[in-house]
Amino acid sequence: MPFDITKTREHFPALQQDQVFLDNAGGSQALGDVIDSIAAYLSKTNVQLGASYHTGTQSNTKYEEGYQAAAKYINAGRDEIVLGGSTTQLFMNLAGALHFDEGDEIILSKMEHETNVKPWLFMAERLKLTVKWWESSKSDGLKLTPENLKPLLSPKVKFVACTHVSNILGTIHDVRAIADAVHEAGALLCIDGVSFAPHRKVDVKTFGVDFYAFSWYKVYGPHIAVLYASNSAQKHVKAMAHFFNPTKTLEDKLGFAASNYENVQTIPQITKYLDGSVDAITEQEGKLQKILLDFLNSRSDITVQGSTSADSSQRVPTISFTVDTVNPKQIVNEAEKISNYGFRWGHFYSKRLCDEVLGLGPEGVTRVSMVHYNTEDDIWGLVEVLKKVLP
Ligand SMILES: Cc1ncc(COP(=O)(O)O)c(C=O)c1O
Repeated sequence: MPFDITKTREHFPALQQDQVFLDNAGGSQALGDVIDSIAAYLSKTNVQLGASYHTGTQSNTKYEEGYQAAAKYINAGRDEIVLGGSTTQLFMNLAGALHFDEGDEIILSKMEHETNVKPWLFMAERLKLTVKWWESSKSDGLKLTPENLKPLLSPKVKFVACTHVSNILGTIHDVRAIADAVHEAGALLCIDGVSFAPHRKVDVKTFGVDFYAFSWYKVYGPHIAVLYASNSAQKHVKAMAHFFNPTKTLEDKLGFAASNYENVQTIPQITKYLDGSVDAITEQEGKLQKILLDFLNSRSDITVQGSTSADSSQRVPTISFTVDTVNPKQIVNEAEKISNYGFRWGHFYSKRLCDEVLGLGPEGVTRVSMVHYNTEDDIWGLVEVLKKVLP
């Protein structure tokens, strides 16, 4: 079925207003069905889980359906996921529950949102682990690969964390190949899938990862996140449950008295929308990124930070750039004066990447992050706005 942008946009109430949303990597707009289901849940079934009276059982069922839909969508077992407030929170919970031996090594990357760094630094401090840093240079294509990882791996390394897609560069990493290299060395791999999940299908078994997390508020839903931990990786996760509660599943271990009920129960609405749509989403996003990249690449005073290719197998439409003579903040400020385009400047919490790897100034990059509900006309219009605000 050809992608119908008009029909697609009708699913999102927020798109029916005079604002072009181009900060989708910050947070996407929510589906109307998600919004309606939250209102319905709170109106009719907002009771404490676990009860046996009529409304209680409805509530239990809705919550369980949210968990089931999330697990199925990412191809995980029901016992291999936990839902929680945010990816940052879930990684922090995991960092408090993981166990390694003093003197073991962990590898962290400098291409990350800090969410996939700080929890592991905290863990390293707690368990007296040694931290090794992994990065890719511009000459290496700013891409994390098994090749640039392997020199850091050794039998002492027990844990590696990296991003699936950088929230600045948009480049897709081959997590399967990275997972194979990590496992060959006998370590566990944790992936931040936050910038990947809004654009492509998540399949944790195909990826071969041990831990994987993303946030549904960037995937057309509300503020809730999912963490996957494979059954075998859960051997390293100490249960943080009350002593009288079960400790079998990841939810038992890290669930902390349940997730936000009204948000959990929206997940079937999101997965229903996404199921079977990924090819159309990829195609639409490919068109959008090509329009913007063709313009940015045509100017010698603009540097695209990350891949300049519009190839959808290489990147998602999260595009950051710098301009020789104008700083990112100025570009955004000037664009806001003359248009209804919403995009942003900064380091977007990938501060190590911006400062240490890309060598950027304090204002970081200008980032335009698109998703499938943006139109080609939106992006042609953005190019016209940029032409006006750039020298
Ligand atoms: C790549 C990436 N990882 C992690 C996060 C943090 O997600 P959360 O707000 O759910 O903690 C973000 C948020 O912008 C992100 O872009």
